[in-house]
Amino acid sequence: MSRSAHPAGPRHADVVPEGHYSAPPADLNALDTKVWAHTVGRDVDGVVTVGGIDVKRLAEEFGTPAYILDEEDFRIRARAWRTAFGHDADVFYAGKAFLSRAVVRWLHEEGLNLDVCSGGELATALLAGMPAERIAFHGNNKSAEEIERAVRAGVGRIVLDSFQEIVRVAHLAQSLGKRQQVQIRVTVGVEAHTHEFIATAHEDQKFGIPLAGGQAAEAVRRALQLDGLEVIGIHSHIGSQIFDMSGFEVAAHRVVGLLKDIRDEHGVELPEIDLGGGLGIAYTSDDDPREPHEIAKALTEIVSRACDAARLRTPRISVEPGRAIVGPTAFTLYEVGTVKPLDGLRTYVSVDGGMSDNIRTALYDAEYSVALVSRTSGAAPMLCRVVGKHCESGDIVVKDAFLPADLAPGDLIAVPATGAYCRSMASNYNHVLRPPVVAVRDGEARVIVRRETEEDLLRLDVG
Ligand code: LLP
Repeated sequence: MSRSAHPAGPRHADVVPEGHYSAPPADLNALDTKVWAHTVGRDVDGVVTVGGIDVKRLAEEFGTPAYILDEEDFRIRARAWRTAFGHDADVFYAGKAFLSRAVVRWLHEEGLNLDVCSGGELATALLAGMPAERIAFHGNNKSAEEIERAVRAGVGRIVLDSFQEIVRVAHLAQSLGKRQQVQIRVTVGVEAHTHEFIATAHEDQKFGIPLAGGQAAEAVRRALQLDGLEVIGIHSHIGSQIFDMSGFEVAAHRVVGLLKDIRDEHGVELPEIDLGGGLGIAYTSDDDPREPHEIAKALTEIVSRACDAARLRTPRISVEPGRAIVGPTAFTLYEVGTVKPLDGLRTYVSVDGGMSDNIRTALYDAEYSVALVSRTSGAAPMLCRVVGKHCESGDIVVKDAFLPADLAPGDLIAVPATGAYCRSMASNYNHVLRPPVVAVRDGEARVIVRRETEEDLLRLDVG
């Protein structure tokens, strides 16, 4: 996630401010297609447009801050994942990245399945018409009520995360006279090269059952004995924002090793493996993500080679991309409120949102890009830190970025690649209202998640 500091670029040659910035881009007005959604461009006046609508109009109509989501881009990415894996694999969009009823409908229309990990996500999925059998239910501590709702609804699979849960789901399903299809989530002992908080397959963390020491094999042994369960496969998710495929390779080999042990011990070949999500996207021009078809080819080859070596039938593969589908589809549109140059350091640009609409910078030291979108500018690059309006000095949206030196209050700036884990992790810190999500397509814009109001906030405050 990190780029190295570069001495070029600061405004004062004798002082090199700390940070992760590279040299300023050659053209500050250019929009790198790697980090912006497909339909984003500038019109003849230099105003950025998306889905055929300019951002000034969007700001006027819907206010700022706002997440602006390119529906066409979402559909293109969802379709690319589905077609990349073809009919021999299933793509489950990870709803935690961003979920709304419109998104569920798009996924349904594009032939994807859905991974949910709470009662709330399940309710949204069902309300929006996702067929229950196309839903996978995740979580390391599902409540009894959530399990019951999922089983009653008839979800396609529940991913079991602990020994206790194996028994809970089995009993519940049995009491409802059902046999629930389940996968068992294992931790394969891989250290994914990503931030510690979003790496999930090393052993010392809360998810899954370790392969090490035979625990996962024991979990399968127990699950196979329970009438309420039909064990259909093994699940592994190694982390998030990963570019290097070698972690997936090791994970796939270890999961296939378990399938082989299960076959040898129980005479059963489990028909499915799920390799989770976690594929990285470009947040800045320095990131180089792979295309879905390359990922699909690499993963299917890894699995089939490992299965051939183990003399196993190749199981049906599923994957769970969240960020890789929705991340690049949206940008956050902000209005600049103040511009504060700190001599020899950098210029602090305050926007009308902040850590309440994007916690990722504060939480993971995530890097983002930013651009002036309400106009172009020929002014020189100025090293900036884009900060929010919260009472916290860590309230940073973009740590180091170059914006034109004539930036002024009232300008609109946008932070691309905020479709994943921004609205879904948004908060009401300082009683700031969460922004709307506005979907644009073919010259039309519509609110799919409305802006929070003070009434929304106060409704929960019952005195
Ligand atoms: N499947 C499972 C079991 C997961 O736990 C996750 C993410 C995914 C799929 C989707 O991962 P993706 O393809 O979106 O990377 N809040 C963090 C990310 C946490 C991810 C949690 N699990 C962030 O903002 O980077």
